[in-house]
Amino acid sequence: MTRLRLGILISGRGSNMEALLAAAKAPDYPAEAVLVLSNRPHAKGLETARNQGIEAKAVDHRQFGKNREAFERELNTALKEAGAEVIALAGFMRILTPWFVQQWAGRMINIHPSLLPKYPGLDTHQRAIDAGDAEAGCTVHWVTEGVDEGAIIGQASLPIKADDTADTLAARILPLEHQLYPEALAKACAEIRRRDEP
Ligand code: GRF
Repeated sequence: MTRLRLGILISGRGSNMEALLAAAKAPDYPAEAVLVLSNRPHAKGLETARNQGIEAKAVDHRQFGKNREAFERELNTALKEAGAEVIALAGFMRILTPWFVQQWAGRMINIHPSLLPKYPGLDTHQRAIDAGDAEAGCTVHWVTEGVDEGAIIGQASLPIKADDTADTLAARILPLEHQLYPEALAKACAEIRRRDEP
């Protein structure tokens, strides 16, 4: 089986990236990690990836000022040079322009810590608590131009407890993210393969 070459975009801790790297170590997993990119030079995840022998680079968005496309062209070049065929956003905290999204349309997925379509954007855990929701969770979806709007690939949920804070809820959802993301990426790879078949 040929495996799709995977680029992972991060901004920080990189625990979801780690879950993907761990899954991609299995020879029968449908993707192999070829590059990790961070918009923050000091992201902990860069170090983690390098320690695992994965090429990891920073493209510091601050060097490009307001020129988001110039920043993204740099990301795109690095991804193309690495031969990436599928991209997983894993805690990547920059909104992508339509230009970049179109470059990777149908080949880029994201993990978001809410049960989309509820709570796109930030502060998802607090918003779920404030709304009195019975459950919360995480979603993996295709990336489209609208933030956190693309078709859903998979979700995982758990009950919100009466004494949950945003922090305790986030901490309980995180392991669900780590389980969901590799499964959802495998599904996405299967879909890309089906689409690419002549
Ligand atoms: C995760 O909760 C993810 O869902 C969100 O940002 C967080 C990133 O955490 N998009 P990590 O960097 O993967 O540890």
